[in-house]
Amino acid sequence: MSDPDVTPDAPSDLPDSDLMENVVGLCKRRGFIFQSAEIYGGFRSTYDYGPLGVNLLRNVKNAWWEAMVQRRDDVVGLDAAILSPPAVWEASGHLSNFTDPLIDCRKCNQRWREDKIDGVCPNCGSTEFTPARAFNLMFKTHAGPVENEGAVAYLRPETAQGMFINFVNVLQTTRKKPPFGIAQVGKSFRNEITPQNFVFRTREFEQMEMEYFVPPAEAQHWFEYWLDERFSWYTGLGIPADQLRLRHHGADELSHYSAGTADVEFLFPWGWDELEGIANRTDFDLKAHAQASGERLEYFDQVANERYVPYVIEPAAGATRTMMAFLLAAYHEDEIAGEARTVLRLHPKLAPYQVGVLPLSKKETLEPLARSVLTSLQPHFMCDYDVTQSIGKRYRRQDEVGTPWCVTIDFDSLEDHAVTVRDRDTTEQVRVPIDQLVAELRSRMDQA
Ligand code: GAP
Repeated sequence: MSDPDVTPDAPSDLPDSDLMENVVGLCKRRGFIFQSAEIYGGFRSTYDYGPLGVNLLRNVKNAWWEAMVQRRDDVVGLDAAILSPPAVWEASGHLSNFTDPLIDCRKCNQRWREDKIDGVCPNCGSTEFTPARAFNLMFKTHAGPVENEGAVAYLRPETAQGMFINFVNVLQTTRKKPPFGIAQVGKSFRNEITPQNFVFRTREFEQMEMEYFVPPAEAQHWFEYWLDERFSWYTGLGIPADQLRLRHHGADELSHYSAGTADVEFLFPWGWDELEGIANRTDFDLKAHAQASGERLEYFDQVANERYVPYVIEPAAGATRTMMAFLLAAYHEDEIAGEARTVLRLHPKLAPYQVGVLPLSKKETLEPLARSVLTSLQPHFMCDYDVTQSIGKRYRRQDEVGTPWCVTIDFDSLEDHAVTVRDRDTTEQVRVPIDQLVAELRSRMDQA
């Protein structure tokens, strides 16, 4: 059984500006993403993740952790501090190099990132600018009650340095040998000159980074290995391959530490843009921290009886930016029996709710059974329990937020101890015995 006349279309069928507007509107309307401090007029470029957004973002991070840590025996996790002393950023090169070229429009005084505008002020159209000056993107603060130079601290602009400065701690406590990786997910902060495109570029964001330490001679092999792995991660979670590409950086584009970088790019409504950078950071960071700290940040290979500084291959992704790409790729509009519907075709692993539990009627006779079905599903799946309005409207609401399966409890359920499971994408409905429901939905999850 299925809803009749489903005519799917592709997100690319929508004009790009509509797609962006529709997704941003959906995020606000359904509680994915709110403007931060909205009741005070909003705080520019900061966002709060609402009840659905927090689930989706958490699922993106969990899917990354599962692929990068849980399913591997050569990668371990870390959760390092966000606040860090200047010595870390001095050694890493961020204090001197982590800058963007800042220019002021001489007519309207708006400030821009020189490399992000086409020689014309986006605000007033003037072509008169001050010369570019290097603007450091790090947020500076003071740790403790005294605001002097000795108390300066920085909010990390990348999670990566936490992995480098803990290299020896991890090596000693885990007894890992190169090639091995340290992975971390967490907040990073950059005082972006022009934050833009919703959560694509913000001043506070989340990263998912892994530093993979390898013998120097194997660096190119592992660089290519991680390009493949990371590209497949996105397609495996439902982003169509034709909306993704790998782009190798030209020599003039490389970061100060990189001997080679390629970006995984997604076809955003404004064009191709970066989701993740995969870089060969060489031994730059370990050597820099060794020199600055006086500690030996090396690996001793007992078999070869040699000591060396590993090279590092780094897949560095943005969690918040990736969440936005998943939303854009999942957004579809189609029709069911002539009625328009919006559907987020999110991978079940990512969907904010895996299951909508919908008693057909609010009548008290159905409530105890519906609640017991809900309770039996909750240890296994994130569920939404919805009793308001017609069943058709409830299906549409679940489709709109990407819930892959709805479970409907009707009056027959009281007799046959079975429920109807409806699939979001095909709208097919099948009857499933309640005592087989968890197994049925688990098997669908595994096959997704
Ligand atoms: N450790 C290397 C590093 O941080 P990056 O290319 O500067 O490399 C990695 O950042 C990823 O972090 C980017 O590909 C992007 O997804 C995300 N990212 C960087 N700046 C961001 C911002 N201002 N807002 C949202 N995401 C950002």
